[in-house]
Amino acid sequence: MLARLLRGAAKILLTLAAASSLVLAQTLREEATRAGLLVGAAAAPAHFSEADYARTLSSQFNMLEAENAMKWTATEPEGGVFDFKLGDEVVAFAQAHQMAVRGHNLLWYQHNPSWLVNGHFSPDELSAAMQEHIQRVVEHFAGKVFAWDVVNEAFDDQGRVRSSIWYDQPGIGLAGKGTAYIEKAFRWAHQADPKALLFYNDVDAQGVNAKSDAIYAMVKDFKARGVPLDGVGFQAHLRLDGKGLDTFARNLARFAALGLQIHITELDVGIPIGADGKPLHPADSEKQAQIYRRVAEACAAQPACTAFQTWGFTDKYSWIPGFTHGKLGAALIWDGNYQPKPAFRAVLAAFSRAAADSKTVAERKARSEKR
Ligand code: XIL
Repeated sequence: MLARLLRGAAKILLTLAAASSLVLAQTLREEATRAGLLVGAAAAPAHFSEADYARTLSSQFNMLEAENAMKWTATEPEGGVFDFKLGDEVVAFAQAHQMAVRGHNLLWYQHNPSWLVNGHFSPDELSAAMQEHIQRVVEHFAGKVFAWDVVNEAFDDQGRVRSSIWYDQPGIGLAGKGTAYIEKAFRWAHQADPKALLFYNDVDAQGVNAKSDAIYAMVKDFKARGVPLDGVGFQAHLRLDGKGLDTFARNLARFAALGLQIHITELDVGIPIGADGKPLHPADSEKQAQIYRRVAEACAAQPACTAFQTWGFTDKYSWIPGFTHGKLGAALIWDGNYQPKPAFRAVLAAFSRAAADSKTVAERKARSEKR
């Protein structure tokens, strides 16, 4: 009698264990962790109080990045006046859910506050403002933000250093000197937090092209001269044409060969939408899933690719409809009602397959730990 009871209890326990591991295996977070990968999303603290938003974010991701909360507009709204409230909320959410925090960003040609853009500063004054900003922000988040996008989108599509307030309008005194201002930013960031991983981040550089050639030349030079740079972020804002994906693996391989880490930082795949924000062509959701799959597989197959992040996670709050004036949208892997889309299953499956490749997983873990 007792033996039968015990056998019955054991059976129930086994069934429960099997069921719970099945449930766990449904999350990106679980599968990415098994694959030695960070899986992240950009997020906005304004939505943390929304139950579905908070639940999806905390259960599916082990990394978090502020979509806007750590940009200049948020952190230094007036010259010399720093505000870390929103950034701190992102950090607090991440800490409450054991998520790593990626910092974004210290320097960009966009999203700068008007006091800075319209301040008519001299190069010396701008240089001082840039140094103070980097120092104060990086010091504030030291020990909390493990990796920073130090400079964002500094090259144009031809691979030229983009004209910007930091470079030549009027610049910090290094106009015409190529990547010298970028180097300054990395050195100042490193001084402020020697433990943080420092990334250069750019858009439309996933394939081998003029822009990624220019980034490659810069980081190779930086590595050779000991400029503190640890990795390159590939934004990967994509569409159904999957621009650059045919040479993506080859591109990642050449950066990996420099001993750098690679992060996919802002993946989304915009598709045509109607006025209701839903896909115009139902078949596009499957095509979109294939693009997501290709990016996830290329990252998973490359041991230097240590993080895979999407720009948001629910179509409800994606920046793409606003950015494309309503033409494109539905770009993420959960729909507006937090239902997983085919792209979610494609990424999950890619991570599961990656987790089975123990050699690559071990190499990835070794790379993640090394500076
Ligand atoms: C975007 C945000 O998603 C928007 O909310 C904001 O209005 C503009 O910036 N490349 C980047 C990100 O590096 O910081 C941008 O984020 C998207 C493009």
